[in-house]
Amino acid sequence: MIDKKMQNAINDQINAEMFSAYLYLSMSAYFENTSLRGFANWMRVQAQEEMVHAMKFFDYVIERGGRAVLKAIEAPADEWASPVAAFEAAYEHEQKVTARINKLVDIAVELRDHATNAFLQWFVTEQVEEEASASEIVDKLKLIGEARGGLFMMDRELAARVFTPPAASEA
Ligand code: FEO
Repeated sequence: MIDKKMQNAINDQINAEMFSAYLYLSMSAYFENTSLRGFANWMRVQAQEEMVHAMKFFDYVIERGGRAVLKAIEAPADEWASPVAAFEAAYEHEQKVTARINKLVDIAVELRDHATNAFLQWFVTEQVEEEASASEIVDKLKLIGEARGGLFMMDRELAARVFTPPAASEA
């Protein structure tokens, strides 16, 4: 049975991952509105991945005999000054998520909850990827600057991202 302190911290993380999904879906809506459909697609896929993260935590609490408790999801921003501003916000957000995951690991270590620590290692690795992909797009967008041709090429690149459901990717 999972410790209450660990359970509560994971329940907060379910909320944080749901908020991430909301944030990226809101960014997707913003990009749809600016006719950058490839960017919108990338953000939509990101939102779907965040839902997978939320569900991993949800299932884990239940598997450990705990109680998953859902809380209100904060409304995300709905406007950004530019594509690069949106991706900078995404990158900053991922850095905050990484800090949250590290805190969860700290709690697991403090409680000597080795199972949760092992479970969390997937997220530790995932966050390296999450930060790297957002930061790479920020860098590219900065290089592109005001060049519309570059922006449309990037849009085509981001249109190629597809969501892979966990069952398929883990098979
Ligand atoms: Fe669930 Fe983007 O980290």
